[in-house]
Amino acid sequence: MAQIQMLSKETVDKIAAGEVVERPSSVVKELLENAIDAGATAITVEIKEGGISFIRITDNGCGIEKEQIPLAFMRHATSKIRTAEDLSHIVSLGFRGEALSSIAAVSRMELMTKTRDTLTGSRYLIEGGAEVETEEIGAPEGTTVIVRNLFFNTPVRKKFLKHPQTEGGYISDLMEHMAMSNPQISFKYMNNGQLRFHTSGNGNLQEIIYRIYGKDVARALVPVDVSGQGIRMHGFLGKPEINRANRNFEIYFINGRFVKSSLISKAIEEGYRKYVMQHKFPFAVLHFEIHSGEIDVNVHPSKMEVRFTNRTKLYDFIEMQIRETLHSIELIPEIILEESREKKEDRRLLMPEHVPEPFETARFCQTGFSPAVEKKDTPKSVAEESIYHVPEEEEPFFVDNRKTQPPSSPGNTSPYDVQKEDAVTIPEPERNIPGLLAENPIQMDLFEEKMLTKDAKREYRIMGQVFDTYWLVVFHDKLFIIDQHAAHEKVKFERLMAQLEEKKVQSQMLNPPIIVTLSGNEESVYREYTDYFAQMGFEIEAFGGSEFAIRGVPAELYGCSEDRLFTELLDELSEGPIKGAPNVIRQRIATMACKAAVKGNMAFDAPGIEALLNELLTLEDPYHCPHGRPTIISMSKYELEKKFKRIVS
Ligand SMILES: Nc1ncnc2c1ncn2[C@@H]1O[C@H](COP(=O)(O)OP(=O)(O)OP(=O)(O)O)[C@@H](O)[C@H]1O
Ligand SMILES: [Mg+2]
Repeated sequence: MAQIQMLSKETVDKIAAGEVVERPSSVVKELLENAIDAGATAITVEIKEGGISFIRITDNGCGIEKEQIPLAFMRHATSKIRTAEDLSHIVSLGFRGEALSSIAAVSRMELMTKTRDTLTGSRYLIEGGAEVETEEIGAPEGTTVIVRNLFFNTPVRKKFLKHPQTEGGYISDLMEHMAMSNPQISFKYMNNGQLRFHTSGNGNLQEIIYRIYGKDVARALVPVDVSGQGIRMHGFLGKPEINRANRNFEIYFINGRFVKSSLISKAIEEGYRKYVMQHKFPFAVLHFEIHSGEIDVNVHPSKMEVRFTNRTKLYDFIEMQIRETLHSIELIPEIILEESREKKEDRRLLMPEHVPEPFETARFCQTGFSPAVEKKDTPKSVAEESIYHVPEEEEPFFVDNRKTQPPSSPGNTSPYDVQKEDAVTIPEPERNIPGLLAENPIQMDLFEEKMLTKDAKREYRIMGQVFDTYWLVVFHDKLFIIDQHAAHEKVKFERLMAQLEEKKVQSQMLNPPIIVTLSGNEESVYREYTDYFAQMGFEIEAFGGSEFAIRGVPAELYGCSEDRLFTELLDELSEGPIKGAPNVIRQRIATMACKAAVKGNMAFDAPGIEALLNELLTLEDPYHCPHGRPTIISMSKYELEKKFKRIVS
């Protein structure tokens, strides 16, 4: 690597300044970027207690010359750029010369490094930014950095850290992204002494996706490799069947850098538009190669944002290429990976011959240096609160119009309103538009004189179903329209809640169990809510690495696709934490579970709907699904007659 030099003030002033080290995962990210920039082909990351007490990163890259080490820890010293000019065509991941100095300022740091040209290596200790010790040691080529007791000297920042498990989850997520960003580098990742994954470094991105997301995802991938207008896009598009509930699975890299870009996300989603339902997002892992002069990464200190010189060109390219690739999907043979899933061994452990072993052991033997003497001055209880935003309370979907407006507004609405979904989901402000009110079907509510009582059962007639969803029921002089999904969801939810209340949730065992692969983030969400899942009747067991076996599900939810149910639940939970008393949390999870279980599922026949209706009507509030949406709306004969101008009032 080039020599490390101090940047001029003029250059420094042009670099996006700000906090470099926010949490353990940012430390790992910076150190990994350094290892990658150093040309490493094998990198080992080891963390303890979510990275708060211990992070060790070992690479087999070019190393740092002995005389250059103190300089590497100085602010604005870098070997990667020289002048402000270079900022316009950055080809390395780092360029600010800030990471090492920022990390050293807030931790106890140790660096061991050796370049190819020297016989011995160096060991350098720096604590809170002050050099403590430097010595010559025997060491293999490459660099090891150990970061201990992060934020030991900045208690306020330490207080903002989440629970170690959550912090560890962020690092796991980062590791997965890093492995996908550089399939040609072998990454080994250990968390609390456990090997989490080890990639081969053979350049096969599909294999890494398989190891991270499991068989079902890997089988539903469409390879893409297209170039044009100075852009190359290659990687994998998920088939629509593996669409997800949030954007976390739109993963892309620009010139090997994991970035977040609303432009690229939008273009991907637009390309998928025909294939993705509302509130669903595609799965995609894409690499973009764009000339370094056409992008600017010097936007934000996190180096995760990018600006593009030609936004429209990039957007159109991505959108069109994705659309066309998906359009020709039938022409693409299914990708089947060779490895048998029967092998119970951890799929993540792939140890091809050329994967270099971490060389700490050898080094410690040579030097007598004792690894990882962890000082126990990290308080165990860091802030418990979560990083996620608290979701806003769902707005109630319906108000009882009859109470606010007499049924007498002019008949200027379409009679087809009855069939529009809007009829049941009018947002608050629109609800009071005259003409939309009285003549629309009326949401049943608890105050309604209970017309659909169990006793009245014999008197109502089920007329049939429309739009595969709504059932028409006539009782006396009223037409009732029942949303079968909402009704079904409601019934399932009430059954589940009743069982939860009585602590008698029935599990339905699955034989054979279903194995799911969780991403780092999903796993940490699952661990956060493990007890609730158990209370609800899920029986889930760690299955090695990031795999989990679903052995049992709540009996009420049996029969839907259980693995989808479980991952959808995790996706929803990862959107934001649920706060409140345990029963509130339980209720929210049960609601989500029922929604996920019911979605798109079940075609009811007339006897089926009758049974459902009967059960629905035994409930205290049969008129709303657990999400507050109506299950039943009604329209009276009187209102119909008014619509047809038989009655003029
Ligand atoms: N693992 C490593 N192997 C070899 N050299 C390294 C390694 N880590 C750091 N260096 C050297 O130390 C210098 C300072 O690293 P540092 O991460 O602080 O800055 P940078 O990578 O240049 O820029 P940035 O702040 O954007 O990361 C680097 O420019 C590089 O020359
Ligand atoms: Mg760096």
